[in-house]
Amino acid sequence: MVLSGKRILLIISGGIAAYKSLDLIRRLRERGAEVRPLMTEASQRFITPLSVGALSGGHVYTELFSREDEQDIGHIRLARDCDMVLAAPATADLMAKMAHGLANDLASTMLLAADRPVLIAPAMNPKMWSHPATQRNVETLRADGISMIGPMEGKMAESGEKGLGRMAEPLDIVAAVEALLAPGVRPLAGRRAIVTSGPTHEPIDPVRYIANRSSGQQGHAIAQALQALGAEVTLVSGPVTIADPVGVTTLHVETAEQMLQAVTASLPTDIAVMVAAVADWRVATGHDQKIKKLPGGAPPPLVLAENPDILKTVGHHARRPAVVVGFAAETQDIEANGRAKLVRKGADLIVANDVSPSTGIMGGSRNRVKLISADGVEDWPELSKQEVAARLAAWIAAKLPRQG
Ligand code: CTP
Repeated sequence: MVLSGKRILLIISGGIAAYKSLDLIRRLRERGAEVRPLMTEASQRFITPLSVGALSGGHVYTELFSREDEQDIGHIRLARDCDMVLAAPATADLMAKMAHGLANDLASTMLLAADRPVLIAPAMNPKMWSHPATQRNVETLRADGISMIGPMEGKMAESGEKGLGRMAEPLDIVAAVEALLAPGVRPLAGRRAIVTSGPTHEPIDPVRYIANRSSGQQGHAIAQALQALGAEVTLVSGPVTIADPVGVTTLHVETAEQMLQAVTASLPTDIAVMVAAVADWRVATGHDQKIKKLPGGAPPPLVLAENPDILKTVGHHARRPAVVVGFAAETQDIEANGRAKLVRKGADLIVANDVSPSTGIMGGSRNRVKLISADGVEDWPELSKQEVAARLAAWIAAKLPRQG
């Protein structure tokens, strides 16, 4: 396990994103880390020390002048008896305290006394984030050598407001922790990868389009997993509602033709993983104006034309990446169809999954796949899409010819 034996002092400050810290603790522990949580007073209004303690499996530190805690472990030692300090969520208030060296509660005291790497995951209202005062503090903290992940673009939980301010997702924070604590585990350093993700939208007229149920979760997770192993990743994404992965160059497109263009312009790369659910057809008869219903008229005919096959183009390209991976969304004969696609599209691997509605895979958060390659078929158990992504990234790293 990547974080085996690593001790993380986790500071949870008071914002609605605190609920994500519970998942974060679980994810860190899954990877072998020991998490020692510290909660500010405000954070205890959002989640309880009881749940934090239950998930971390140990004591939760809450008070600066607690005789019990001081006897157990003095507050200066608490700040140093760890491999890193992680503040998630880090509120505007906590960041302001850090930037100005205040130490008027346990969290700010720890951050001032710590002599270990510090990573913070800011989370706040977008207006608070963009306020010049916060931005000044961000600059100061960066100059002080504090690492930062996020905030992300998105809808705020409490106000529905959109903008930068959402805390990075727990798995992205874990990837940033791993990059800080286990920088050696980066077998894809120096490699380039291109990933497609999400659906495409094929316009019928200026207001209507043909689409599919792809959410982009699997493709985005793969881009993130390749990045976590050190690759320089370009993600070409169709229209999705999930956040861009951290540390990945994301290009947003709508149609299959735009996606093909963005992909071929990004070549050469070492790795290509084509996950997007590209629409097989586009509407041939372009309509510049909205199609109107005519009284008593028949429904308009839709004439379709075949879209370019992006995976096939990449698989047979003059600058073909060393490892080309495709997905096969099937509802029957998964293996036979997967094998045929492997050959037809010039791929090294087809990740085949059953997308029958009963599986809930399309748009869901879990996946069950078969890996079909020249070596045979590998059947993976049902996993989260993040786990599929991490395993696949490791598979690709192992498959890649050695450099130099
Ligand atoms: N793909 C692509 N460009 C397309 C169609 C598909 O790059 N125009 C890629 C997908 O990203 C995926 C793989 O091809 O990696 C398989 O897609 P799928 O829709 O399952 O296969 P099709 O080629 O469309 O075959 P069929 O519809 O007959 O199953």
